[in-house]
Amino acid sequence: MAKSDEDRLLDHSYDGIQEYDNPLPRWWLWIFYATIVFVPIYYLVPGDIGAGKGMIARYEAEVAAYKASAPPPAAWDAAAFAARAKDPALLASGKTVFETNCAACHRADGGGLIGPNLTDDAWIHGGQPAQIHVTVTQGVLAKGMPSWERLLKPEQVDAVIAYVLSLHGTNPKDGKAPEGTADTTAVAAPAAPAPGA
Ligand code: HEC
Repeated sequence: MAKSDEDRLLDHSYDGIQEYDNPLPRWWLWIFYATIVFVPIYYLVPGDIGAGKGMIARYEAEVAAYKASAPPPAAWDAAAFAARAKDPALLASGKTVFETNCAACHRADGGGLIGPNLTDDAWIHGGQPAQIHVTVTQGVLAKGMPSWERLLKPEQVDAVIAYVLSLHGTNPKDGKAPEGTADTTAVAAPAAPAPGA
């Protein structure tokens, strides 16, 4: 650009404002061209805009990968539970879990308070170990029975179910009246372990 062209006033005047016709500075132009080169790269490279995978797609891919790597736990095994339901160590830890988490509503002796009596033959949701497992893990949220699935470890759930079954027939003083339907088979004692087993 010839020196003579610099600071040459254009011969118009808008409301008294006049302007030069100077070229844009080099550095400004280079940045401008750089942005033009950058756009297609930015558009194609994975990022949050453009053709690349967006945040949501990447999140979903991560979730899918996680689910594939961690299959859901196997269904609860009632038979395996029955085999150890009388294990004194399991019952002892179940007692602790019960006193800590359940006694507030079911009373320490299971006689019932806010929640129903757990020592009688009557069950609202069924007294089979597998049914109790569902009640305890899922809860009965509408009726005030919390879901324990995320609060207790599977081992603690097993322990507390064993303990609840062991409360059957203890007939504590001033227990709540039976609620639900009788299910006497439910709480039939699991087979005692063979001697020495
Ligand atoms: C916040 C109070 C509360 C706590 C804590 C609670 N429960 Fe319950 N539970 C209830 C209520 C209320 C019901 C009755 C639900 C209904 O009427 O359907 C119930 C029902 C049950 C039943 C089903 C009884 C039946 O007749 O079918 C079982 C089993 C049970 N709870 C076990 C437990 C265990 C085990 C714990 C501790 C890990 C526990 N509950 C903690 C309130 C509670």
